Amino acid sequence: MKINRVIGYQVLDSRGRPTVAASISLTDGSTHTARVPSGASTGAHEAKELRDRAGKFEEKFYSGLSVQQAVLNINEKIAPKLIEEQIDLNFVDKQLIELDPSENHETLGANATLAISLAAAIADAHSQNRSLARYFKPDGVLEIPMPMVNILSGGAHANRSLDIQDVLIVPVGAKSFTQALSWIVAVREMAAVLGKADGKVTHLVADEGGLGIAFDSIEKACEFVCKVIERVGLKVGSDIALALDVAATQFFDGEKYNLATMNKKYTSDEFVKYINTLVSNQPIISIEDPFAEDDWAAWQQFMQECPRKLQVLGDDLLTTNLTRLNKAIAEKSANAILIKANQNGLVTSTLNVLKQARANNFNTVVSARSGENEDSWLADLATGWGAGQIKVGSTHGSERNAKWNRLLELEAIEKTKFVNPFS
Ligand code: PGA
Ligand code: ZN
Repeated sequence: MKINRVIGYQVLDSRGRPTVAASISLTDGSTHTARVPSGASTGAHEAKELRDRAGKFEEKFYSGLSVQQAVLNINEKIAPKLIEEQIDLNFVDKQLIELDPSENHETLGANATLAISLAAAIADAHSQNRSLARYFKPDGVLEIPMPMVNILSGGAHANRSLDIQDVLIVPVGAKSFTQALSWIVAVREMAAVLGKADGKVTHLVADEGGLGIAFDSIEKACEFVCKVIERVGLKVGSDIALALDVAATQFFDGEKYNLATMNKKYTSDEFVKYINTLVSNQPIISIEDPFAEDDWAAWQQFMQECPRKLQVLGDDLLTTNLTRLNKAIAEKSANAILIKANQNGLVTSTLNVLKQARANNFNTVVSARSGENEDSWLADLATGWGAGQIKVGSTHGSERNAKWNRLLELEAIEKTKFVNPFS
């Protein structure tokens, strides 16, 4: 089946900011569209999305965030290379690399390359008469990933009501994804009820659908979520465990970790000790970005001292980048990687990062961004790739629930197994 039309255009994401959409049409008359997500607490080493800023396309009503140059790159540079060619994801990604050999896709824009790469994957799956999940795993049982779900948010997603970015829950005791989601919704709703009873809820729904409730320490935020879990009749630890996304780069000034709400400043050494005490005293099974993106020494020291079973998850540290992952493997700086396709810029090379992580016994967590959209390809990637875990935000906002609903659909219609990487 051949490609006969490729079109890029600008659409809006869940924060009302412009993002790139790409549609690939095939000779059977079908059209396949993908929209790219965008972060707010982005790592310095991520692939580069093109924003128009004060360039020739600056649209003042979008505060310079329009993506018209990336769209133009799709329509004028990428489309001519693909039209009349057979649909094939590997071929498409090769063309994108030839057009823009820079590692971070800064010439075409990673938002342009990822939109095309994803649309190509979806179109290629269609040409093989498969869903996107089955495109990557044609036979056998599909593994539905364990969700890691946002309950409380702070940091860049909720006006710094907490120093850290998220307190999340992991329904490790659930027997199916369907059951897991029902527990999660119960906890998310009870958190709003109890927060209000404590006089705390600001009614702020954060960027990823969690609650932006202010707490004056990380410990108190964790204790609150534990209380909520118990109140819905579930057991802390065996049914639902906690996870944190510290997003520490956001409050590291190059010398000190500045916890403003706690009125504390820690050196790297002190912060390693603080985080170690925190994970030892709270039912935390996974900690993401506990240290800044280039504070490699702190990561390494922590890995030597922290509880053996703890998942130490690199997001800003690793930015879905093979070079950074290989460094972390060699130096034992983490034991898990967050996989965000738009940090990387291409579907095939994102999958290569995931494969390299798995080959080196790293856990993999496929993740959405804080700026999302109605697409559900992330659920198919996480399942088709057998990632083991998925992080999408919370259960408020259809841009989040599109992914959860797709996992529910896969569990309903496919032969599946709900995996628990923490068992
Ligand atoms: P971001 O946040 O999409 O704003 O980077 C998500 C995360 O840090 O995991
Ligand atoms: Zn993160």
